Amino acid sequence: MLESLKMIDKHVKSWMEEVRVKVIASFNDNLDIKTKSGPKDLVTNIDREVEEFYKEKIRKYYPGSEIIGEESTHGTMKFKNCGLLWVIDPIDGTMNFVKQKNHFASMLAVYQKGVGVRGYIFDVMQDKLYWGGPDIGVYCNQKKIEPPRNDKLSNGLFGVGAPLLINNYHNLQKVALESCGTRIYGCSGIQFIHVLNGQCVAYISYLRPWDYAAGKVLAETLGLVVKTIDGQAIDMLSSSDVLVATKNAQKDITRIVQSTY
Ligand code: IPD
Ligand code: CA
Ligand code: CA
Ligand code: CA
Repeated sequence: MLESLKMIDKHVKSWMEEVRVKVIASFNDNLDIKTKSGPKDLVTNIDREVEEFYKEKIRKYYPGSEIIGEESTHGTMKFKNCGLLWVIDPIDGTMNFVKQKNHFASMLAVYQKGVGVRGYIFDVMQDKLYWGGPDIGVYCNQKKIEPPRNDKLSNGLFGVGAPLLINNYHNLQKVALESCGTRIYGCSGIQFIHVLNGQCVAYISYLRPWDYAAGKVLAETLGLVVKTIDGQAIDMLSSSDVLVATKNAQKDITRIVQSTY
């Protein structure tokens, strides 16, 4: 098992390096941009090509794996309980990719019998890959990351998805006010990274499985809490609000969202 995870690490790193070259080369071309559910929900040819690239590699080197990918999985998702499940978000933060050519990520997660064994979040423009799992810890490129300090909400920055804050979902505006400040980046992978490396004490957004699968593995490996806003376990195949936080910040957020006024 450990040997095969080492092989997976080696493969994914080389695949993501190829993705980086492909993505940067695409800046010279006209993107083919389409909308999905509405004008703020974009998909480009690069999202689709990168997902297809990962799927071809997975099928070639890990035949028999189950694959869930944002651009090709539709309808209800089900674990078949076979060996490996791969979860792909080819470009996380497509709007940033299109509008900023920055602040987007490419993400993969590997689950075995429902247990997260690897997460990979690649900040493409910084050339920084956050990767790891419970057996080895979490790395940024070659450097091991120490678990962040268990800071409380009032000692740190609070990352959030814009719609939840605008709608004051579960009192989140109060959470924002108690924190040192609020940060909205429009890319769940990048916002997970901020909590992993201690730049934010929490991040909450409404997310789909590919938005949080990798981040959840990495965050839990570092002793961070990954739960719904009301403290429930995340069901890996569903969309829900997802909070990643230090233990102390999570307690503070629970207190605030439960307060009624
Ligand atoms: C989106 C981003 C964004 C989050 C959205 C996601 P996508 O991912 O992660 O931060 O708020 O819910 O859909 O669609 O650009 O991969
Ligand atoms: Ca999308
Ligand atoms: Ca995403
Ligand atoms: Ca995506």
